Amino acid sequence: MKNYTHINDIDDINSWIKEAKALKKNPLKDIELGKNKTLGLLFFNSSLRTRLSTQKAALNLGMNPIVMNVSGDAWGIEFLDGTVMNGNTAEHIKEAAQVVSQYCDVIAVRAFPTLIEKDKDESELVLSSFVKYASVPIINMESATGHPLQGFTDAITISENATKKKPKVVLSWAPHIKALPHAVGNSFVQTMQKMDVEFVITNPEGYNLNPEITKDTPIYHNQKEALKDADFVYTKNWSSYDDYGKILKTDSDWMITNEKIGNAKFMHCLPVRRNLVVEDAVLDGENSLVIEQANNRTFAAQLVLKKILENG
Ligand code: CP
Repeated sequence: MKNYTHINDIDDINSWIKEAKALKKNPLKDIELGKNKTLGLLFFNSSLRTRLSTQKAALNLGMNPIVMNVSGDAWGIEFLDGTVMNGNTAEHIKEAAQVVSQYCDVIAVRAFPTLIEKDKDESELVLSSFVKYASVPIINMESATGHPLQGFTDAITISENATKKKPKVVLSWAPHIKALPHAVGNSFVQTMQKMDVEFVITNPEGYNLNPEITKDTPIYHNQKEALKDADFVYTKNWSSYDDYGKILKTDSDWMITNEKIGNAKFMHCLPVRRNLVVEDAVLDGENSLVIEQANNRTFAAQLVLKKILENG
């Protein structure tokens, strides 16, 4: 595997889960693999988990991670070809990506969508420009339309906590006061479509994710009906896809509560706003998997890095 930019870069989800679980049991077993190799982490947006877990994964492999907050600390980067650069951008991605490639053996990039220009977001301009112009492998640390490190993490966490062969997994939209990206929801859908689970999505009218991603996954607009007999409830807010980037609904009737999810395990990628997305009792209860999900981010990233390093 050269790059890890999409959940489809996973060739066999079950074998990847098995390998990640083995790394979790013995995280330092490949400490020599990344010796004298540098991982560059470029953040165009904020992060806690991705930033720390990906560095931790690199350290577990003996790599040297270096981190840069591109927005704010670096020169403004121009991504469009042929632009007369007489505005706010001082450096073109053609040079920037090649320059970072001189210092790093692998580059990981986080770049969120505009949530204004759907076509631009769907073109994955930032991520695809790094893939195009860098001379080293690229890892997606959450792009405009996907968060494949999170998706793989969630697969590991479900596999670890499943008590039946084919659990029912529900992805439920929940309210938020800000317009949020679709990336986590998209990658979770694409991951569940690869797994042997009964998978349904529930969201209000107007909040269906991109149909090219949801494909034939059942979508319920009745949350109660969708949550019936759920083994795992994965909660995430996203803004409207059809009315691109808009907030259509903020009232609390879609908030996740213990009463709604019963004995199901609760999952969220974090960060999460308490008592807006999900009530305290769920997050503080014994069925919450959110901290273990965050823990598993390290081993998902570690396996991705391991496969890239082994590929040479
Ligand atoms: N889940 C996740 O990607 O968290 P951060 O935004 O803190 O990295």
